[in-house]
Amino acid sequence: MATTRRHDVKDLSLAPEGVRRIRWADRQMPVLTAIRERFAAEQPLNGYRVSACLHVTTETANLMRTLKAGGADVVLCASNPLSTQDDVAAALVDEFDISVFAIKGEDNDTYYQHIEAAVDHKPQLTMDDGADVIGVLHSMRREQLGDIIAGMEETTTGVIRLKAMEADGALAFPVIAVNEARTKHLFDNRYGTGQSTIDGIIRATNVLFAGKRFVVAGYGWTGRGVALRARGMGAHVIVTEVDPMRALEALMDGYEVMPISEAARVGDIFCTATGDKHVIDAQHIESMKDGAILCNTGHFNVEINIPALRSLAAETREARHFVEEFTLADGRRLYLLAEGRLVNISAAEGHPAIVMDMSFANQALATEYAVQHAASLEHKVYPVPTEIDEEIARLKLETMGVSIDRLTAEQAKYLASWDEGT
Ligand SMILES: NC(=O)c1ccc[n+]([C@@H]2O[C@H](COP(=O)([O-])OP(=O)(O)OC[C@H]3O[C@@H](n4cnc5c(N)ncnc54)[C@H](O)[C@@H]3O)[C@@H](O)[C@H]2O)c1
Repeated sequence: MATTRRHDVKDLSLAPEGVRRIRWADRQMPVLTAIRERFAAEQPLNGYRVSACLHVTTETANLMRTLKAGGADVVLCASNPLSTQDDVAAALVDEFDISVFAIKGEDNDTYYQHIEAAVDHKPQLTMDDGADVIGVLHSMRREQLGDIIAGMEETTTGVIRLKAMEADGALAFPVIAVNEARTKHLFDNRYGTGQSTIDGIIRATNVLFAGKRFVVAGYGWTGRGVALRARGMGAHVIVTEVDPMRALEALMDGYEVMPISEAARVGDIFCTATGDKHVIDAQHIESMKDGAILCNTGHFNVEINIPALRSLAAETREARHFVEEFTLADGRRLYLLAEGRLVNISAAEGHPAIVMDMSFANQALATEYAVQHAASLEHKVYPVPTEIDEEIARLKLETMGVSIDRLTAEQAKYLASWDEGT
């Protein structure tokens, strides 16, 4: 179909493949599908302009379709220069009549031009994965801040940035931290990132995990998932941490725990998952073995000190698609995957749809909640209401054909009492 929608995508002729893949993902997203059907009937977002900045994947496409079905006027841009699936971007414009500004591999200037194009939509609601739209609104488009009812934030790093803004009194509208929903981070960050990160590393390198020393920096929700899946592939997993509680947990989960300065000397594959900066720094790079592979699955490409890696290298070349080889002065070669950006979504397809079903059900229902409760929300970061979170868990189990027990009246009374000890 010929589109009149504003857009900047790679090639509209890719749309048919994008449509096939979006529909494939949709089959794994029954909770979101049910919400879409209800939204179509009830129109809870009727007339609201939404600017979304998310990874442009098949799952995101189904979220955009859901918001549109609910009556919203939606524009989408990429939340990472490397994560866009060009066929999906084309399909959204051509088949689903949604404006998209995203091209895989876009340079930094284009990336920000695309965010500005999304902000030109004059949103009343924002949806971020890393707080970039909110960042642009607060820095360059302050005159639009008054139009915004609320924002939604998808990831840990975005929530950290927004809580810092709230603490400084700088946040100009309410934000719902979708990442904080248990049906988001317990599953998306852990199992989604766990599987897709391994997938990204393997697609980029075709390396065998069995017998390798695999270093995971950070044992949060994502790090736990990556460590678990790497162990499942036969790797010897080493965890580095700065938080004693998390380090202890990693140790008792059966992993080796040590500082990055020690892990750097023995690791074959390194994966950062911290949301922190320069976790792998120049001195660590200097002590790595010939052939070491470095990648990141945290939100920004700052976890590995890439400028230091470049300055230590005598020579660089592309060894494979998504693999850059750095030859150091003494001849050792190190391999950086996907420019140090989220490897799971740059070199693979990101989280499987069955997991994103829950994350994006949270996004859709949090958006509806924000519209319904706009008058009572302050300029703060709010969690997703527990009722929404629990309802998504219930629906997910139901769509998976799993039923669970219910408390009997006697059990409910027993659990609520303080004097019924035996
Ligand atoms: N790749 C993806 O698709 C994906 C999905 C979800 C989240 N994320 C991103 O992954 C990052 C981590 O998210 P999370 O939910 O696991 O966060 P988290 O807060 O649960 O865990 C981060 C962990 O890193 C540790 N850490 C911080 N600095 C460190 C350092 N210098 N060395 C070692 N450990 C350090 C912290 O102590 C913490 O335990 C964030 O940037 C988040 O936005 C990526």
